[in-house]
Amino acid sequence: MRPPGDKSISHRYALLSALADGTSSIHGYSTGGDCRSTIECLRALGVSIEETCRTAEGLSLRVAGRGLGGLRTPAGPLDAGNSGSTMRMLSGVLAAHPFASTVTGDESLSRRPMRRVIVPLERMGARIASTDGRPPLTIHGVASPAAIDFTPDVPSAQVKSAILLAGLHGDGVTRVVETMPTRDHTERALAAFGAEVARDDGGISIRGAQRLTGQQLAVPGDISSAAFWMVAAASLSGSEIVIDDVGLNPSRTGIIDILRRMGAVVSLDEREGGPGEPAGTITVRHGGLTSVEIAPREVPGVIDELPVLAALATHGGELHVTGAGELRVKESDRISALADGFRSMGGDVEEFADGFHISGRQRLKGGDVDARHDHRLAMAFAIAALGAAGPTVIHDAGAAAVSYPEFFSVLESLRT
Ligand code: S3P
Repeated sequence: MRPPGDKSISHRYALLSALADGTSSIHGYSTGGDCRSTIECLRALGVSIEETCRTAEGLSLRVAGRGLGGLRTPAGPLDAGNSGSTMRMLSGVLAAHPFASTVTGDESLSRRPMRRVIVPLERMGARIASTDGRPPLTIHGVASPAAIDFTPDVPSAQVKSAILLAGLHGDGVTRVVETMPTRDHTERALAAFGAEVARDDGGISIRGAQRLTGQQLAVPGDISSAAFWMVAAASLSGSEIVIDDVGLNPSRTGIIDILRRMGAVVSLDEREGGPGEPAGTITVRHGGLTSVEIAPREVPGVIDELPVLAALATHGGELHVTGAGELRVKESDRISALADGFRSMGGDVEEFADGFHISGRQRLKGGDVDARHDHRLAMAFAIAALGAAGPTVIHDAGAAAVSYPEFFSVLESLRT
């Protein structure tokens, strides 16, 4: 199978296409609700985006770039829906436009912390009003943000990207220092659009006022969506899955190391993906399940895969995760929601402030679980349910459409 277009890369290609000179075309753009939110926000900011076709890989878009600093004042609030990536990365862009705009989100996004972008963007000259550090955000941007050298409190690719995108519009050199590396799609995408991004010891720097040039881009398949099928194959004895055209950016492949450590047999066949984004084929075969510990320094590399890795542990073995307090401020409090859900299915889960321990020595019974409007939980519960003795009912399973609208039909096709 081929997973849907990568969500993180889709957001970035759309944003940079909007800021570039000339027209860009993007193929394999994610069909999920989050990436749709980015398209709609950009349209509201005056960007013409045409959807030219829809294939099995995703949407094809033609984006007429407005050039650096060329977005228009929106007529009303910009709705980021459920998407933290849209809200945070777009805030960086809006901080660099001299008009006021408001970015809102759904109930889940309205609970999520935004001070992590407000603080650096205000240091760059923007004024940002929020509700006690949470959305909606009203951003009063400036035409030329001040360059800063900034170390975010939490490792976050969204925060890093917001700062780099604001810095791109300013004077001087903006630098972000990472205490732990996070996904580097923004850096790679900026380079693909012709900007120079420099890396030094833990720091990423961008010089302001670099013009971007429109590009033709193909988005590789999303390894975070593929992870559900990789885990399903690793969990169920006799299974093997071959996943084509999946992104293999080293900042996203932590899942492969952990699956191997848990006992799965994983092979890779790498080729060059879109500009600067490696991609290839991943084959995963069941090979038994053992006990694994995920250390805090590994967490940023598997932050989105922790729910499905928790599901893997319900099939056998054990999983111990610490240093993952960030899970509590994702689309839901993923630590408490996973613990509640797996317990309702008869699982053995211990919850910590910054992680969890799951023992899969006892087979799940199945039961009623609540995805709490969280796409990755809806899909993780489905993968856990494959190993349960009885049926599982997943409430709010439609949340999967945020990143993977085709998830349940693909599951049905793989089952037979
Ligand atoms: C993302 C970064 C991560 C991740 C999210 C997508 C991105 O969030 O959890 O799903 O595309 O940059 P943080 O930056 O908050 O860690």
